[in-house]
Amino acid sequence: MEFSVKSGSPEKQRSACIVVGVYEPRRLSAVAEQLDKISEGYISNLLRRGDLEGKSGQTLLLHHVPNVLSERVLLVGCGKERELDERQYRQILSKTISTLNDTGSMEAVCFLSELHVKGRDTYWKVRHAVETTLDCLYVFDRLKSKKDEARRPLRKMVFNVPTRRDLSIGEKAVEHGLAIAAGIKQCKDVSNMPPNICTPQYLAEQAQLLAEHSSKVSVEILGPEELAAHGMNSYLAVGRGSINGPRMAVIKYSGADNDSAPIVLVGKGLTFDSGGISLKPGEAMDEMKYDMCGAASVFGTMHAVVNLNLPLNIVAVLAAAENMPDANAYRPGDILTTMSGQTVEVLNTDAEGRLVLCDALTYVERFDPELVIDVATLTGACVVALGKHATGLLSNHNPLAHEILNASEQSGDRAWRLPLWDDYQDQLESPFADFSNLGGRAAGTITAACFLSRFTRKYNWAHLDIAGTAWRSGKDKGATGRPVPMLTQFLINRVAQQQDN
Ligand code: BES
Ligand code: MN
Ligand code: ZN
Repeated sequence: MEFSVKSGSPEKQRSACIVVGVYEPRRLSAVAEQLDKISEGYISNLLRRGDLEGKSGQTLLLHHVPNVLSERVLLVGCGKERELDERQYRQILSKTISTLNDTGSMEAVCFLSELHVKGRDTYWKVRHAVETTLDCLYVFDRLKSKKDEARRPLRKMVFNVPTRRDLSIGEKAVEHGLAIAAGIKQCKDVSNMPPNICTPQYLAEQAQLLAEHSSKVSVEILGPEELAAHGMNSYLAVGRGSINGPRMAVIKYSGADNDSAPIVLVGKGLTFDSGGISLKPGEAMDEMKYDMCGAASVFGTMHAVVNLNLPLNIVAVLAAAENMPDANAYRPGDILTTMSGQTVEVLNTDAEGRLVLCDALTYVERFDPELVIDVATLTGACVVALGKHATGLLSNHNPLAHEILNASEQSGDRAWRLPLWDDYQDQLESPFADFSNLGGRAAGTITAACFLSRFTRKYNWAHLDIAGTAWRSGKDKGATGRPVPMLTQFLINRVAQQQDN
């Protein structure tokens, strides 16, 4: 797929299709007006006859509009002009892309990037148009023996910007959009892979491939022996019931020429979470292949970072393991000594994510991090609290939390903060060990983060619970690629801050 920006008038475009907006009720956008004028009222006549009201997401495809050089004109309903917000903008674009892809236009010049979106500039509109296009065209058909390819697939999109002065901003937006979209695609691809193929070893191999793409990347893989040598007994216990042993991939990206403290990203990478001896119920258990989406999103973000060539030092850890029931599996009642030396009583082997992450979070202390962000499909409770729309954010450092919320807002990749007050810590008390891995029914997302917070005291840290946002269930089942947009935006903002200082 190819993208470019242009600043031209609609009547001069010679394309397979030109895309213009119509507001509700039956009001032409400025560009639609121009087309209407040269076609001597052809479009306004159609609207008057009631063919298109302008409701958000409505479409009408016209062929051979009089005096228009392009073969087709796609009218897209944009709702009430004053109400056009980010979410609607993205919806309108998705609808446009799927219509174009279904109706045989292999290229199009799109004027929707000129619509007025509340509080957003040209950069934002073009970047999000690119991201939405690629998100919309994504399919995971690698393992289908017959692929249903569109006969005439969409190949090229040109987004129009208002003036020539906006061209360089538009080009930057395309570049960023492409890098983020590539990261999202990488994240989706590994996430959607089935658990018999995507094992901890497979995830580690994917990480290694990154080093082949860039001389700034080096990768180290820690297997069971190395994990044992570091005393990561809690992490090891989780993987013990599986023949697909644990692997921790440590990806180092050196983009800053000095030896500034790295930003550390840690992803939960349970390639399958059966629950272990505390076995999960059968319903939708296949979806627990997505329990590695945290690691996948960290991996995808590193792809975006490499593409954008960001001048930062970053360490990314993919903490991969498989949680299975077996004669050798860990059990409820076991007491584990974590790498930090703190002991944990296992009350439920299905609360395994925190047991893997706690050792990974202790391990990363050695990098003297500037800050640490972990990403995990950690708790079903997060889906109950926030649904599938927002990622849960918990942090021990307010400025970091605000920075992440800003990035989330800019990228349209929603997050919502939950409290991490000490009041909740008591729920982890254990009569036999320093604490347990289970906080009871109340506030499950917070008590899971409380557990992690006992291993992150040495640095500024934020935790992203993506249990609700990482994948979709039902007929559109599939990974979303979240929170790659948020994380990448966070890193882009960090670069901008550095340059301001
Ligand atoms: N990977 C799951 C969390 C999960 C469940 C994410 C469903 C998305 C959808 C995690 O390992 C888990 O099983 N958590 C338990 C924790 C509980 C035993 C304290 C949960 O949420 O039920
Ligand atoms: Mn679990
Ligand atoms: Zn899990």
